[in-house]
Amino acid sequence: AAAKKDGYPSFMEKEINDQPDAVAQTLLGRSDIDGNLTLDEIRVDPAVLKSINRIIVLACGTSAYAGQVARYAIEHWCRIPTEVELSHEFRYRDPIVDENTLIVSLSQSGETMDTLMAVRYAREQGAKTVAICNTNGSTIPRESDAVLYTHAGPEIAVASTKAFLAQITAAYLLGLYLAQLRGNLFQGQIKDILAELAKTPAKIATVLANSEQIKELARSMADTRSVLFLGRHVGYPVAMEGALKLKELAYIHAEGFAAGELKHGPIALIEEGQPVIVVVPSPRGRDSLHSKVVSNIQEVRARGAKTIVIAEEGDESVREFAEHVFYIPETSPLLAPLLTTVPLQIFACELAMAKGYDVDQPRNLAKSVTVE
Ligand code: G6P
Repeated sequence: AAAKKDGYPSFMEKEINDQPDAVAQTLLGRSDIDGNLTLDEIRVDPAVLKSINRIIVLACGTSAYAGQVARYAIEHWCRIPTEVELSHEFRYRDPIVDENTLIVSLSQSGETMDTLMAVRYAREQGAKTVAICNTNGSTIPRESDAVLYTHAGPEIAVASTKAFLAQITAAYLLGLYLAQLRGNLFQGQIKDILAELAKTPAKIATVLANSEQIKELARSMADTRSVLFLGRHVGYPVAMEGALKLKELAYIHAEGFAAGELKHGPIALIEEGQPVIVVVPSPRGRDSLHSKVVSNIQEVRARGAKTIVIAEEGDESVREFAEHVFYIPETSPLLAPLLTTVPLQIFACELAMAKGYDVDQPRNLAKSVTVE
């Protein structure tokens, strides 16, 4: 059946608004009535999964940023060293892979040539491969040992949105599954995280319902030549994904930086009026990352940046340094990307529309890159 826009002017807007469902559907049926995780589709011998000593996540584009987000959670929960690598870099560097390596591929389409080739190579080296994929029966899942489908529904717009949130969700489920199997987390901890995940669709809906303000800002910035994005911890890949959306949809030069790198270079770019979008960690998080990022906002602001801040509801500390603040509902720090990404997608989409661009089919891009 032909995919429909459900009354939205574009697939992009529809898919951004589909995100509460994309996450909910990806969680559906993956826990039992008592709230315990049940991931039957990971058909890899549990003894093998207990013996792996390394995880390599392989993906391209937006999917690779989902992998980078998931890495923080997987390492934290499972205590398995986890790397994320672009498939095309991995496959050409003679990588070290063996039977104790678990390869996790992330691909919306399941057809990205470089990711397929990277998975094939790893399998030949004896690694076990799990595919996280949004397209039933596509090539990468068929060539993997196991598949965990994201249930975001068909994604038509070329730039990925709902598949990204669904990939993070599925990769988190895989992380919890491994932590459960290997005894790294107590049952109760896993249940608590699943319960928190179950609340995210409603919170995403809240972000969507409150998006008028960021749309207005985006429309007012149609002449912008460059936007910098800063984030830290899970907010770092979110910043890079926000920048990627702006490049893809609005053809604006954009870069995402790790906030801690600011002093090592990016701060030299700041001049009067330079827009900087900052993804602020929760003030309830560990390691005082929050106050470090708030200092970064002050530093760029003091040099003339126009600061646009995504922060957690109730975080008043950012207000005095921010020209614009967009609040997202409270959640645990590792789950925040499921919320903080959404205003960045909306910003890119709205700005691109204000410039009159086709947000479903950006120039020069393909939905699925099936050639090298
Ligand atoms: C293309 C698409 C992106 C996507 C990337 C990876 O570049 O335009 O939106 O993130 O491929 O695709 P995959 O299907 O492997 O997730």
